[in-house]
Amino acid sequence: MAIDLENKNIYLPRLYQIMEIIPETSDIKTFRLDLEGENSSHLPGQFAELFVPGVGEAPISITSSPTQKGILEFSIKRTGLVTSAIHRLNPNDRLGIRGPYGNTFPLSDLTGQNLLFIAGGIGLAPLRSLINYVLDTEKRNHFKKVTILYGARSPQDLVFKWELKKWQNREDITFLLTVDRGDDQWKGTVGLVPNVLKENVQVNPLEWKSIICGPPIMIKFTIKALLEMGFQPPDIITTLEMRMKCGLGKCGRCNIGPYYVCKDGPVFTYQQLQNMPEEY
Ligand SMILES: Cc1cc2nc3c(=O)[nH]c(=O)nc-3n(C[C@H](O)[C@H](O)[C@H](O)COP(=O)(O)OP(=O)(O)OC[C@H]3O[C@@H](n4cnc5c(N)ncnc54)[C@H](O)[C@@H]3O)c2cc1C
Ligand code: FES
Repeated sequence: MAIDLENKNIYLPRLYQIMEIIPETSDIKTFRLDLEGENSSHLPGQFAELFVPGVGEAPISITSSPTQKGILEFSIKRTGLVTSAIHRLNPNDRLGIRGPYGNTFPLSDLTGQNLLFIAGGIGLAPLRSLINYVLDTEKRNHFKKVTILYGARSPQDLVFKWELKKWQNREDITFLLTVDRGDDQWKGTVGLVPNVLKENVQVNPLEWKSIICGPPIMIKFTIKALLEMGFQPPDIITTLEMRMKCGLGKCGRCNIGPYYVCKDGPVFTYQQLQNMPEEY
């Protein structure tokens, strides 16, 4: 992969050109980078450290699927120094990348299974890599039924609207969209993700795996709803966003109990989270 570490200095990023910047919401943009003829070797669930010279680095999930050749995509919410500096970049500017880092969604455990994806807000970014991997023409028959439930605070907060339409039109998946608050134009479902889950998703929980990501409060109540539906802790998979520095399991910045989130995670099952200290 283009971002594999060929340099002796493991902290040295490689610079890639921004091909396209897609505005998603008032404070989220998707950056598509050109891998200059190479393909990414990352797997869904991994992240990279993005670097802006003179400003610093931030860990960001790789939102593109490895089945998308020659590009790498990141969807970034403007929160502070580094993410604001990335938001100021323009097409043809270069962005520093090192990675890919972290573990992946457990692809071998998910193969041959029914998959229920549940995402809130920008939490769709890490799940999107796996969703597009599963929906890829060559991979689709490796998985059984697919249901996607995606929610945001308002219609303006939905990300990847350009891709949601494609998922909505697919006949081989069930796609549910909801917002906490609608507006005059919104004709779809209104309701919080965990409530829409309980009211609209009827599955045999022992025959499905659920993969979830979103704001901590949404994850908390979605896990509660899944457990009430009868899902087992090993079948609930999520991904954590701890503060990080090196991304490599060396600085100790991201540890929770015995785990380094950057190396042992960011993907964990709910069963693993149950055995961790409360700090996550
Ligand atoms: C594995 C992983 C994947 C991530 N994927 C994405 C992604 O796909 N898209 C995205 O927009 N963001 C993602 N994040 C969060 C992103 O890394 C932070 O928003 C970013 O580091 C903030 O950097 P900054 O310099 O802009 O903000 P700073 O100036 O450092 O901080 C601004 C504010 O953000 C808070 N903050 C900083 N880092 C984090 C963090 N890691 N988690 C929560 N709050 C934080 C600070 O406490 C402060 O309140 C991910 C984080 C991790 C660990
Ligand atoms: S960020 Fe340095 S050990 Fe995880």
